[in-house]
Amino acid sequence: MSFTVYEPAPARLNRSELAVPGSNPALFEKAAASAADVIFLDLEDAVAPDDKPQARKNIIEALNDIDWGTKTMSVRINGLDTHYMYRDVVDLIEQGGDRLDLIMIPKVGTAADVYAVDMLVTQAEDAMGRKKRIGFEMIIETALGMANVDEIAKASKRNESLHFGVADYAASTKARTTVIGGPNALYGVLTDAEGDEPRDYHWGDMWHYAIARMVAAARAYGLRPIDGPFGDFSDPDGFRAQANRAAVLGCEGKWAIHPSQIALANEVNSPSKAEVDKAKRILKAMKQAQKEGKGAVSLDGRLIDIASIKQAEVMVKKARQIAKSG
Ligand code: GLV
Ligand code: MG
Repeated sequence: MSFTVYEPAPARLNRSELAVPGSNPALFEKAAASAADVIFLDLEDAVAPDDKPQARKNIIEALNDIDWGTKTMSVRINGLDTHYMYRDVVDLIEQGGDRLDLIMIPKVGTAADVYAVDMLVTQAEDAMGRKKRIGFEMIIETALGMANVDEIAKASKRNESLHFGVADYAASTKARTTVIGGPNALYGVLTDAEGDEPRDYHWGDMWHYAIARMVAAARAYGLRPIDGPFGDFSDPDGFRAQANRAAVLGCEGKWAIHPSQIALANEVNSPSKAEVDKAKRILKAMKQAQKEGKGAVSLDGRLIDIASIKQAEVMVKKARQIAKSG
C-alpha cells in the first residue's frame, strides 16, 4: 500500500441510477416506488430551455412533498457554461428542504469547475444552516473532463462518484456514432489475411479506454465509478452486455434511462450467490493458510494469495450492503 490514503466516499448503493426529467412530474411517483438505488431528477439535457424554470419548481416541490423512501436523491444541475446553473444550486438549497443528498455536475471539465460549484453550495448551505452536506456526482463526458479526470476526482471533499456520459463524450471527441452507448460495427478487427479462411471480424468495445480510465481515477481517490446511459431501451440484452462489461472493469452501477433498465442494472451490479459463496470459501481458505504461516495456497486447483483476500472482501462487503438495504 502507498503511504498516501484517500478516504472513500460515503458507502451508498449505486447499482442503478434512474434518470427522470424534471419537466415531467407525472413520472416522479413511479420513480419513487421503483427499485432504483439512486434517482437523479434532471434539469439539464432532458429539459428544453423554455422548460427549465418550471422543471426547477417541479423538482423543489417533489423533493419536499414526495416520499422517496430510503433512496439516494440527486439533481442534475445545468452546466457551468449556462446561465441556469447558479439558480439551480441556490433554489435547490434554499427551497429544496433536507431530502437532497447529491448534486450531479454535468460536463465537468476541470477541477476549478468542481471548486466553483463547491463554493456556491457551501455558501448556500451555510446561509440556510443546512447540517447535511450535499455530495457531488460528476459526469465525465467531454474530452477536457477526461484529460483532467484525476484532478476532477480529487477536487472536493464532497465528491462521491464519477459517471461516464457516453453520449456527450462521443459528441465531444467527434466519435463516429449517433447512438447513446453500445458497440459500433466499424470498431473491430479482421483476422489476418494470412490466416484461416474465411476471415473473422471481431467487434471491439469502442468505450473500453474511456471507462477503464475513469474507473482508475475514481478508485484512486475513493469514488464510485458509474457507467452512464444505454439509449436503446428496447434491447435488454444489449443493456445487460454493456452493464456487465462496465462492472467487470470496476464500475459499481449503471444509469437507467427507462424503468425497464432498473432491474437489469441492479441484477448485474449485485454479486451472484455463487460469486459470494466462492468469495467466502476464499476467505476461509486464506484464514487457514495464514494460521499455517502460508501466504499462498491452492483452492479448486488455482492459486490464491493475500490479494485474493482483498478481492473476496470486496464481494462479501457488497453482498452485505445489499442485504442491509432490504
Ligand atoms: C449523459 O449525460 C451522456 O451524455 O451520456
Ligand atoms: Mg450528457
